[in-house]
Amino acid sequence: MRSIRKKRKKSLNSNDSAVNISGPDSGRFPAHVAIIMDGNGRWAKSRSLERLEGHRRGVEALETIIRTSVNIGISYLTVFAFSTENWNRPEYEVTGIMMLLKEFLRSRQEELRDNGIRFNVVGNPGMLSEDVLDALDEAKLLTKDCRKMVLTIALSYGGRDEITRAVKQLALDAVAGRIDVDGIDEQIISGYLDTRDLPDPDMLIRTSGEVRISNFLLWQLAYTEIFITDTLWPDFGPDELVSLIKEYQSRDRRFGKV
Ligand code: FPP
Repeated sequence: MRSIRKKRKKSLNSNDSAVNISGPDSGRFPAHVAIIMDGNGRWAKSRSLERLEGHRRGVEALETIIRTSVNIGISYLTVFAFSTENWNRPEYEVTGIMMLLKEFLRSRQEELRDNGIRFNVVGNPGMLSEDVLDALDEAKLLTKDCRKMVLTIALSYGGRDEITRAVKQLALDAVAGRIDVDGIDEQIISGYLDTRDLPDPDMLIRTSGEVRISNFLLWQLAYTEIFITDTLWPDFGPDELVSLIKEYQSRDRRFGKV
């Protein structure tokens, strides 16, 4: 990924040599990789640092993974940045994560655009502040014509909340006669979700060893291959991403068939 900010210690272009995809089946490549970035707090605690420092390092890890993803040809990268449940965290942590998000967008949105990355958001905007909404809109507008990769940030996102909002809208459209109830099928339901423009993920990666989906993309993960790694998110890097993709390539995806 080409960096336009030469001054930063760590440009979005470092570490590219670490990426070498050639595996047993290098033709079968995941188009859409989704990630639950977990373990920032434990990473910080194990170093006697503030939790927010873990999130800060989490953003750096994310920047590296975005760069690697676009370079190796992933078309869709979706990351879980903040859940509907995360609103219950202490106020200083919530404010800190929102600040990191704004800083990420402010400092990186032009780089995203210059590297062909379209910025996208899923989640419930209801609880987001005006300045966060403005920053999200600005990044979406700036990158709207980008075609190499779609980066989706799940923010104030919960799978059940997404499905609830979709069902409400579907019911309103049915009552108003805009939709025929007999015609409702999986494709129509998918079209009401925040992810309507994205294919379902091929891979889900969760860091920090927790074996849970945690309300992430509940509908969309129906046939997704799941990978759990013990690595804490700030320590997750290109080598491990590539190694998990190789493992994906060796799996037999049958989608319920024999
Ligand atoms: C999970 O770690 C991580 C989060 C709840 C937030 C993820 C946020 C980032 C990676 C930074 C934000 C990035 C952007 C672009 C906004 P945890 O705090 O649950 O870790 P723990 O389980 O070890 O406590």
